[in-house]
Amino acid sequence: MSSTFAVTVQPAARMSGRVRPPGDKSISHRYAMLASIADGPSVIYGYSTGADCASTLGCLRALGVPIEQISRDRQAGIHLEILGLQVGGLHRSSTPLDAGNSGSTIRMLSGILAAHPFRTTMTGDGSLRRRPMRRIIVPLERMGARFISDDGRPPLTVMGTDRLTGIDFQPEVASAQVKSAVLFAGLHADGMTRVVEPMCTRDHTERALEAFGAQVGRAGTSVAIRGGQRLIGGTFHVPGDISSAAFWIVAAAALPGSDVTIEHVGLNPSRTGILEVLRRMGAEVKTVTEHAQAGEPIGIIRVRHAELQATEVAPEEVPGVIDELPVLAALATHGGELSVSGAGELRVKESDRISALAEGLRLMGGEIDEQPDGFHVRGRNRLRGGEVDAKNDHRLAMAFAIAALGATGPTVIHDAGSAGVSYPEFFTVLESLRA
Ligand code: S3P
Repeated sequence: MSSTFAVTVQPAARMSGRVRPPGDKSISHRYAMLASIADGPSVIYGYSTGADCASTLGCLRALGVPIEQISRDRQAGIHLEILGLQVGGLHRSSTPLDAGNSGSTIRMLSGILAAHPFRTTMTGDGSLRRRPMRRIIVPLERMGARFISDDGRPPLTVMGTDRLTGIDFQPEVASAQVKSAVLFAGLHADGMTRVVEPMCTRDHTERALEAFGAQVGRAGTSVAIRGGQRLIGGTFHVPGDISSAAFWIVAAAALPGSDVTIEHVGLNPSRTGILEVLRRMGAEVKTVTEHAQAGEPIGIIRVRHAELQATEVAPEEVPGVIDELPVLAALATHGGELSVSGAGELRVKESDRISALAEGLRLMGGEIDEQPDGFHVRGRNRLRGGEVDAKNDHRLAMAFAIAALGATGPTVIHDAGSAGVSYPEFFTVLESLRA
């Protein structure tokens, strides 16, 4: 859960060193959920240390899943054993589930709970209670479940059924959480369930379902699953999170003389959009894929600074960089220029990321124009630093810290503890990379 402490970030000359980022948040959620409904035990190495993934484990435990934490290490992450209860085998919880700050937990778990013939209420913190849930309620009700919500927002009560029917669904928003919720329900439904997305989103669910032994049909932006398949537990290694690594990748690209290597990081092509944006801006970015685990490529990213140029992120590129847009805005304050459009989804993330970014960067002396579906940052003048509020949003706390490295004076980040939602070690690693 986030906390409200403030951190002061001093400007930095350059960044250098090697980092292993925490386990991928998206993949951690999926492995824990699928292991819980698989046949037999699963072992997960490198599970995310962030509070969001702890929320998923808390919810699964409340649904009767035996989960044991074997060890926790700052470098290697969390090592878990989960005893699967089989598809459709979760138990009714006697208390409401707390998804904390985690949209992935409440939305994806709704897909699984839709197929369980009991009532479950899920809620979370103030940020989660403001986030839109109709995007999953509509398809899951078409499949046969029923929901009660607060005008489309949590608390969310799922009234599941063991008689779901498969659907063809075309979501209006490109969202991997929505796709995953529907596919998870589809695994339990009669017949085929197909999701056709407006644009391709991250495909960890498809890869994870296959790694747990299910068959998934994929063609272009369409994904289909036949109901009634069983999942097989196994051993899974979570790659490092490229969205957490993004902060160091950007810091290295921004600060002259920097040279940072990211190790054991996930290189799934649906997540590497940030590297393309950085290359367009002129940064020197090299990647080496070393191996794949459960269908997820893992390797090394090395980034060195170069003079930054202006670039644009177009709407079709947005799903591939959705979580990296705050730190790309921070990058542009270091001397580049960035225009983003087609990113209205940013307004319904952990905060309204367009207005909160604009407010924070302006308080630091930045030039940023806000649009309904994007923003434009000009890095003409160095930031001066100042006092900003992360607004209970982990990615904003960390993006402001990366912007602060290029300022002329210190920056106080209020609510910096929010970083713990995905990267509790962030501020320690930041200090260790200062050269
Ligand atoms: C996620 C998908 C994205 C992303 C979120 C994690 C996932 O959300 O912003 O941090 O793990 O599927 P949407 O699906 O709402 O775009």
